Amino acid sequence: MTPDEQKKAAALAALDHVADGMKVGLGTGSTANHFIDALGARVRQGLKVICVPTSIASRQRAAALGIPLATLEEEPSLDVTVDGADEILPRGLVLIKGGGGALTREKIVAASSRKMVVIADASKLMTAQTFGRFPLPVEILPFGARATIRKIKAAIDSLGMSGEIIVRQTGGKDFITDNGGLIADCHLGHITRPTELADALIRIPGVVEQGLFTSIATVALVATGDGVETITP
Ligand code: 5RP
Repeated sequence: MTPDEQKKAAALAALDHVADGMKVGLGTGSTANHFIDALGARVRQGLKVICVPTSIASRQRAAALGIPLATLEEEPSLDVTVDGADEILPRGLVLIKGGGGALTREKIVAASSRKMVVIADASKLMTAQTFGRFPLPVEILPFGARATIRKIKAAIDSLGMSGEIIVRQTGGKDFITDNGGLIADCHLGHITRPTELADALIRIPGVVEQGLFTSIATVALVATGDGVETITP
């Protein structure tokens, strides 16, 4: 199976976590897109759901498929959110998210759900030795961005980690999130203390949200060549 076929297999497996009448959070990214497409097909067959997207892109995709949508203001309590991840550490189901820049809304929506189902291809599965190769995205306010980044660097250093912090660019300009924020990508190479790092980053003024998801995911469905593996914390 190619990585994209694996993403699709994981997305289809996540349909088992959705039942008639549920309120469903829709993630962002190529794996979440497979789930949105599969859910759209079920809706056309008569499945009744109301969905809250985690990004403008996912909202547009779901709307085009005729999926009934609401905002989190309208539906503040959801049954399940299905979303992708950039890295998954099986022990404790710790995630890195935000490769698509949607980490803040993804975390708010997942935290408003009874369950978060993570869907991924096998390349996202890490070990304690490899976790943190993907640059950790941190959403920050544009105001005082340089000062905020200095504090992020100091927090990372104080925990015995290090690495370059790069403000994400797209087409030669700063990447701007759906919330009007910037993304500071922290190239750490290896994250040894995810919970402490998450706690330290979120305390910094100017940090809107950080991409480590700890104690949020309920289950991960990871597709490999041998099928879809179910991982719980
Ligand atoms: C977006 C995310 C995505 O879930 C993550 O980047 C994985 O993306 P993909 O499914 O395209 O590999 O966190 O902010």
